[in-house]
Amino acid sequence: MAATVALIQGASRGLGFEFCKHILKNKSLAAVVATCRNPDGAAELRGLAGQHPGRLTVLKLDVNREEDVRGAAERVKESFGRLDLIVNSSAMLHPSGKGETSLRDVSAQGTISTLMTNTVGPLVMAKYFMPLLQKGGGGFGQQPAEKAKQHSGIIVNITAKVGSIGDNGLGGWYSYRMSKAALNMATRNLSIELGRSRPKVLCVSLHPGTVNTDLSRPYHRNVPKDKLFSTEHSVSCLMGIIESLNIEKTGKAYNWDGTELPW
Ligand SMILES: NC(=O)c1ccc[n+]([C@@H]2O[C@H](COP(=O)([O-])OP(=O)(O)OC[C@H]3O[C@@H](n4cnc5c(N)ncnc54)[C@H](OP(=O)(O)O)[C@@H]3O)[C@@H](O)[C@H]2O)c1
Repeated sequence: MAATVALIQGASRGLGFEFCKHILKNKSLAAVVATCRNPDGAAELRGLAGQHPGRLTVLKLDVNREEDVRGAAERVKESFGRLDLIVNSSAMLHPSGKGETSLRDVSAQGTISTLMTNTVGPLVMAKYFMPLLQKGGGGFGQQPAEKAKQHSGIIVNITAKVGSIGDNGLGGWYSYRMSKAALNMATRNLSIELGRSRPKVLCVSLHPGTVNTDLSRPYHRNVPKDKLFSTEHSVSCLMGIIESLNIEKTGKAYNWDGTELPW
């Protein structure tokens, strides 16, 4: 039986794919469930599954489709009966691939699509996977030896610094900023509701830094070389934070370096 079970949502490429690689490399007994909306098109992910037979399961899940989320939760329940960690990594900047620079670029449909994927999706994930997280063994995060077991599972919502209202001095990117600010509210709400249950489920938002992926590609030329992280570096920092989480840290947003990100 796997020592820990992690589910990475949005695992076809970018940070989600890197989370899968990192956990498979470093947690010797961990099982990873990688979800993506088009497994047939996710060649790298299928290649990774081939390298880790029996440890990496790929499931089809479009986070905008509630029936996909429900179906994936049923599959995980049948195969593992529990979960220790969910990372909601999927997101889009905007359907156009670029954030709005001014109100002129805003459209109702663009904003709704971005909110569906970036905010509503992770919330619906929490709804269907919560019973499995409550059965987790606390295999990620810290369980201080001197205290009784404090948490069973962890939800990580990947946020962005631009979702911080306090930090917003530049404006622009209406849909993406709004979607991540609202995602942070979901994180906070989940931490309260799931922190009352026994056993408790932790929920945090994590900002990965500016990372060399498709999502940020249109803006890479504006980023100094030493500020554009590789996916390996970013995920290694984020996993360090996840491994050190405990119940006192729930309900907050953290940067890749572990400092708190203001709402
Ligand atoms: N890169 C950065 O600099 C940066 C900075 C701050 C925060 N972030 C956050 O980091 C997370 C990961 O982003 P990334 O940079 O790795 O982006 P990415 O390389 O563009 O990957 C985005 C992922 O989301 C998936 N996705 C999009 N819509 C989906 C849907 N409806 N259902 C399921 N999966 C869907 C994509 O799947 P397909 O392959 O099917 O399209 C892909 O796997 C996001 O939450 C992003 O907001 C990134």
